[in-house]
Amino acid sequence: MGNEEGNEVIIREAKEEDLPKIIRINLETLPEHYPDYFWRDHLRLWGKAFLVAEVDRKIVGYIMTRVDRGLGYVYWKPFKKLGHVVSIAVLPEFRRRGIGRKLMLEAMRRLKEIYGASEVYLEVRVSNKAAISLYEKLGFRKVKHLRKYYLDGEDAWLMAREL
Ligand code: ACO
Ligand code: ZN
Repeated sequence: MGNEEGNEVIIREAKEEDLPKIIRINLETLPEHYPDYFWRDHLRLWGKAFLVAEVDRKIVGYIMTRVDRGLGYVYWKPFKKLGHVVSIAVLPEFRRRGIGRKLMLEAMRRLKEIYGASEVYLEVRVSNKAAISLYEKLGFRKVKHLRKYYLDGEDAWLMAREL
């Protein structure tokens, strides 16, 4: 009905032509930025778990992930496939509507079912209460304190959960 509130949120795979918009959201919302090739490489290599959220055909959020190999943070086992949430953001005027949660849930499902990841992890600024609370609600736990992880000297929590 073209109503203002509660418009449908569509979660879909990102496409190459979405990258300028995704990069703009990243520049507006986060201090961590990346060169264009970094975004393109993630799309090319792990595009099934690189997602955007659309409302009224406008991209209002994204999640970019990758798959690493490692021992795992939740339980130890050699050569595990670890889903890694590299970056997630939602435009300020679209927050607290469950979009971040939807992006995380769909990316985690795909990291597991398509890429075979058995854990997912990420780093987050210790001051980022909103993101930490989102991750905790999704079952992530703080597993490691990374001192001076960010360029400005702030610490990170490494958070992880099983998939
Ligand atoms: N304060 C407290 N809790 C919050 C907040 C907040 N500001 N925002 C989200 N949460 C928690 C709540 O528990 C919320 O559930 P509720 O609304 O029922 O209380 C739950 O997370 C789910 O919230 P969503 O609405 O799904 O999250 P949203 O769409 O607002 O996106 C996000 C969350 C992505 C963290 C958003 O705030 C954002 O874009 N922030 C700026 C960018 C950023 O910090 N990204 C994460 C960096 S770390 C990384 O990328 C790996
Ligand atoms: Zn990371």
